Amino acid sequence: MKLWGGRFSKSTDKSVDSFNSSIGFDARMYRQDINGSIAHCEMLGKQGIIPKSDADLIIKTLGEILSDIEDGLIEFSIEAEDIHMNIEKLLIERIGDIGKRLHTGRSRNDQVALDLRLYLRDECEKIRSHIKDFNNVLIELAEANIGVVMPGYTHLQKAQPILFSHHLMAYFEMLCRDSERLLQCIERMNVSPLGSGALAGTTYPLDREFAAAALGMKGITQNSLDGVSDRDFAIEVCFVMSMIMMHLSRLAEEIILWSSGEFGFVELDDAFSTGSSIMPQKKNPDIAELARGKTGRVYGDLIALLTVMKGLPLAYNKDMQEDKEQVFDAVDTVSATLPVFAKMLSTMKVNKSNMRKAAAEGFTNATDAADYLVKKGLPFRDAHKVIGEMVAFCTAENRTIESLSLDEFKGFCPLFGDDIYNAVSLENCVNLRDIPGGTSLNQVKSAIKNAKRRNSLLYPTIR
Ligand code: ARG
Repeated sequence: MKLWGGRFSKSTDKSVDSFNSSIGFDARMYRQDINGSIAHCEMLGKQGIIPKSDADLIIKTLGEILSDIEDGLIEFSIEAEDIHMNIEKLLIERIGDIGKRLHTGRSRNDQVALDLRLYLRDECEKIRSHIKDFNNVLIELAEANIGVVMPGYTHLQKAQPILFSHHLMAYFEMLCRDSERLLQCIERMNVSPLGSGALAGTTYPLDREFAAAALGMKGITQNSLDGVSDRDFAIEVCFVMSMIMMHLSRLAEEIILWSSGEFGFVELDDAFSTGSSIMPQKKNPDIAELARGKTGRVYGDLIALLTVMKGLPLAYNKDMQEDKEQVFDAVDTVSATLPVFAKMLSTMKVNKSNMRKAAAEGFTNATDAADYLVKKGLPFRDAHKVIGEMVAFCTAENRTIESLSLDEFKGFCPLFGDDIYNAVSLENCVNLRDIPGGTSLNQVKSAIKNAKRRNSLLYPTIR
């Protein structure tokens, strides 16, 4: 007999049970469900809505059910549909009529909205701590390779020399913002919908603030219809998961390029690469490729959830049961990707000389040669033209700018003096960009120093 079976004269068809049931994927919210019920029950007892002694027994039994679940002693049933009714059923099996009082003043609609908020709050905090660990790897790598020069790119064409550490620290910034976004998501979702009832509120004198505070929530939802029927918080989580994956995917793409024979900038550790079943020479960057690939599925989760929600009239509709697999998949994917990606980075070998060699090719110092002429008084556009002609000449002759003799330089523009050689050296090209946020050794060192402080503040300390 279903917990809601009173008005039914037939039991549900087996095929309906399996189609309707969500226990296969919502069982993971058992802890949040039990904690939510305990807070609700404490409040019911305090308000005298149910006898205090009943509340105490319910709370004690819920605690026992929790530890039995954690010890693997409980098998959930498909007939009981979802985690909420499975736990209520267990409670009633154990303490009979008293257990039947728990659901007073509550609906599964506000219950599930609460559980999902609590669950995602915990997941977001976990992911913030994964980001923190990931960022520490970036910082360590940047510090260990300080001074390594590589080509910076635009359009994937060599542009200007930069420090490898500067490149890494760009990802630190992206992930800091993602962590901040998560914190903001947590703050928005961390309010309790309990008391919304099925949709319209409840006739019982619930103390909504009390239950919220017992759950570490900062307040309550302000409209009962909204409280049970929006899933914007889950969609936001999927969005931030998409953003994190997008950032990781860009770095993954770079790792894949950098570890190719053509670039040769990094070599992945054997423990973080895979081989080919046919080509004996192969060492493939599968972790990075999977991170890039999984980005697509997380975007899919976001779009699926937005689409599920877009046509739903207020308030609860069963369509919304489809929210969970999507958002769970998104947080699971990010939680699985960040740690293994971090290990892959921390064990990767950086080929400094290849990076430097690549930075010395491709006229990455051309902007600096133009800036040299500007400092000698030539307008920038004219300087740009002179150096453009010089690059065309060097390209045809297979030469570099710094290989030109002083006479050859003067042939392009009489303003050249022998300080040009210093001005176009890789070290100078990097270190003269000594502006906040720039790639000079000086700036990057202080960026790393600041990053250490900022990352230590990034810890999940919300409650
Ligand atoms: N398993 C359901 C869900 O995930 C719980 C809410 C069911 N509410 C209802 N009125 N059928 O959405």
